Amino acid sequence: MSPYSLVKPLLFGMDAERSHDFVLKLMSTASRRPALLSLLRTMNHAPHSNPVEVMGLRFANRVGLAAGLDKDARCGPAFSALGFGFVELGTVTPQPQPGNARPRMFRLAKDRGIINRMGFNSGGLENFLKNFRAARPDCIAGINLGKNAVTPIDQALEDYRLGMQAAYLDADYLSINISSPNTRNLRELQGDDELTALLHGIADCRRELEDRFQKYTPIAVKIAPDLETADLARMAATCVESGMDAIIATNTTVARPQLLDRKLADETGGLSGAPLTQRSTEVVAALCRELGGQLPVIGVGGIMNGADARDKINAGAALVQLYSGLIYAGPKLIRESITATTT
Ligand code: FNR
Repeated sequence: MSPYSLVKPLLFGMDAERSHDFVLKLMSTASRRPALLSLLRTMNHAPHSNPVEVMGLRFANRVGLAAGLDKDARCGPAFSALGFGFVELGTVTPQPQPGNARPRMFRLAKDRGIINRMGFNSGGLENFLKNFRAARPDCIAGINLGKNAVTPIDQALEDYRLGMQAAYLDADYLSINISSPNTRNLRELQGDDELTALLHGIADCRRELEDRFQKYTPIAVKIAPDLETADLARMAATCVESGMDAIIATNTTVARPQLLDRKLADETGGLSGAPLTQRSTEVVAALCRELGGQLPVIGVGGIMNGADARDKINAGAALVQLYSGLIYAGPKLIRESITATTT
């Protein structure tokens, strides 16, 4: 019996966001205590893996923490002690914002899914970077950037620029989140003209920062699963042509595929976990076909066991990320996924 299976009934007995806050508090405390970090490392000792090079960075294994769990960068060391090869922190917005009203996170236990409409709640960039610098993860760190709710969508580039300028030197890679369903109009940035303008603006900003700091920070673009095949092809081409370094597929879905929990199925927000597995793997496969190796894809969505992680790699992903699966299976999912994706 794993330690997680002992605490899971306690966590699942609490409201979803309360148990999330409770776990983050523990992880944040552990991140500041070397003895607790070694304990986590010993309990979760990562299995053998071969390092891989993606976006010009060397990853100890192919398995990462997906964005959204640690939005304020308080727990990087503890997550890396669990064995992740990389952690993506954020989404962080330039200014602090409270996010949507609670309740805004729902466990659909029968479906092994989660619906959330958090709405980029975070303490903002300044607080994020203070935390990050005080407790850096011991692995590759991505910083996921978003826009504030009050920023008009036609000024979104300015918010991403602020994020890039502040986090450029700290991040191993940056990730541009244009796919959360919980910030009004955000997904419009995936449209044809909008995406071209945004990514060229981001590439220009990176050129300025690269010149100023003499450092190249790779940029990944995170996309939604709710896109037509033609849109995926167009987006893949725009990412290549604007000089992006990777695509992260996928964020949560606004679709509601045959859910058992009818009561919660109608909650507004993005659905993740097992109901998303197949769709996100299809998106990874379609993107990889379009890209033909020009850019790596980071596969995320409904990885609930090692076989799901392996399926993302078989579909062409270079790396994978976990979120909802961790809630349902606990840290053993990290080990299982590392073993299943080590080639
Ligand atoms: C997320 N996700 C997310 N993604 C992102 O880029 N920025 C964010 O702030 C968040 N926030 C967030 C909160 C919650 C509660 C969940 C469940 C998810 C999306 C996440 O990173 C991932 O793309 C999807 O959840 C799909 O993967 P899983 O959860 O099915 O493994």
